[in-house]
Amino acid sequence: MSKNVEALFAAAREAYDCAYAPYSKFPVGAAVLTSEGDIFSGANVENAAYPQGWCAETSALAAMVRAGRRRVAEVCVVGGGAGLCTPCGGCRQKLREFAAPDARVHIAGPDGVRATFTLAQLLPESFGPDNLG
Ligand code: THU
Repeated sequence: MSKNVEALFAAAREAYDCAYAPYSKFPVGAAVLTSEGDIFSGANVENAAYPQGWCAETSALAAMVRAGRRRVAEVCVVGGGAGLCTPCGGCRQKLREFAAPDARVHIAGPDGVRATFTLAQLLPESFGPDNLG
């Protein structure tokens, strides 16, 4: 693992431990590396009114924007289960707002990175800020 990926995984793994997921019992942590080199992380936050919960990626992006940052260079998502915890469709679009199609998205389990995709692989032919001209 490169130093960036190690640090991103560590931040997402810490956030995973803070997830509020009493309903799904599926904690998720996410971390974003900005083009300036800062890392912001977040966890999923569920709600008794189920549709009001939100994803870990959304929390991480909110922390980044709050800190005044705007460009995501790389992402790591940590989730449990045997499969790959790839971002949901809504989060793919939210990531696209701040990340270029070639940004790397690392998908991890609690013990480490399992797979790496570009954002374009997860969200092909995406609609992004540039489309608005
Ligand atoms: N979840 C995330 O936080 N990120 C993902 O990439 C996939 C799903 C959350 C939403 C919900 O709290 C739980 O995982 C089960 O869907």
